[in-house]
Amino acid sequence: MPRPRVLSGVQPTGALHLGNWLGAIRNWVDLQDSHDTYFCVVDLHAITVPHDPARLAEDTLTTAALYLACGIDPQRATVFVQSHVAAHSELAWLLNCVTPLNWLERMIQFKEKAIKQGDQVSVGLLDYPVLMAADILLYDADLVPVGEDQKQHLELARDIAQQRINARFAPRDAAGESIPVLKVPEPLILKEGARVMSLTDGTAKMSKSDPNEGSRISLLDPPELITKKIKRAKTDPTMGLEFGNPERPEADNLLGLYALLAGKTRDQAAQDCAAMGWGQFKPLLAEAAVEALRPVQQRYEQWRQDSGAVAAVLREGEAKAAAVANETLERVRQALGFLPRS
Ligand code: TYM
Repeated sequence: MPRPRVLSGVQPTGALHLGNWLGAIRNWVDLQDSHDTYFCVVDLHAITVPHDPARLAEDTLTTAALYLACGIDPQRATVFVQSHVAAHSELAWLLNCVTPLNWLERMIQFKEKAIKQGDQVSVGLLDYPVLMAADILLYDADLVPVGEDQKQHLELARDIAQQRINARFAPRDAAGESIPVLKVPEPLILKEGARVMSLTDGTAKMSKSDPNEGSRISLLDPPELITKKIKRAKTDPTMGLEFGNPERPEADNLLGLYALLAGKTRDQAAQDCAAMGWGQFKPLLAEAAVEALRPVQQRYEQWRQDSGAVAAVLREGEAKAAAVANETLERVRQALGFLPRS
């Protein structure tokens, strides 16, 4: 039996933060033994908002090196750059032509990002979820481990595969049964870490695009900076940390972060911190964050010291990914009736 497939990716837009790690990459690491895993750096998604061409290549390498530093093992997983496998753009075009425009106009992330950009919104930003669907569907992924904010995009990918491709274009076997063209993927959104909130506002998601650097902890922040950001994190006047109090979103978020970073269960963390004031809790959280990130930062430095090492991983990943992706693309081309390539 082949192992179930996993595909996921992160955009190379600046340094990754605790949300990307705890919501996504940390869960990828655990899947490497039991699944056939594909992890891409989604550089084509990174240009759906205005980007700096002088930074794109470097940010792509940094992101790939961070995957490796977080524990993605190139011996077990396929790590590659999205734009290096042309099938992603090509399948996105084919899917564009069967995806209703109003499915994209309802996407929450599009609406949120479009508001920020005013009249500068690109067609690419609207089309972002179709490219994401192509990323996933090309690999016949069974599971897609992501944070909570990607749930709607995953549902769209499922609907495109099921309703717009399989239902309309699946060929039939001799018995008249339809043979699905594309696999319909399932999201994997773990409860803990799926929605890490900003340090400066417990009701807003921790995000790379927040102009306030103090709102997030980057995986490459040095210990002093981590400690400073946590010291300045928003608090409330109540003593004791607790989960689930709607009046205290910051307490909920920071206690959740503490549990994940210190490797404690939520119950244990809640018990340990129930009587603590913020002044006692914050240094504890800062220490847990620094210690959790120390090995990631050390491994990152090792990967970056050998300038060719990350590029070599990506080259090998590209070849493996392209072989799988091209096969799926050909299947879709055939189902849609294109003249086969010679
Ligand atoms: P990106 O780069 O915005 O986010 C990468 C991953 O990090 C998760 N994430 C969070 N999780 C918890 N709390 C947060 N505050 C937080 N912020 C981000 C995201 O859910 C995501 O899992 N569109 C994708 C990139 C993508 C992709 C794909 C993912 C492109 N193609 C195919 C899976 C499969 C994204 O959100 O990137």
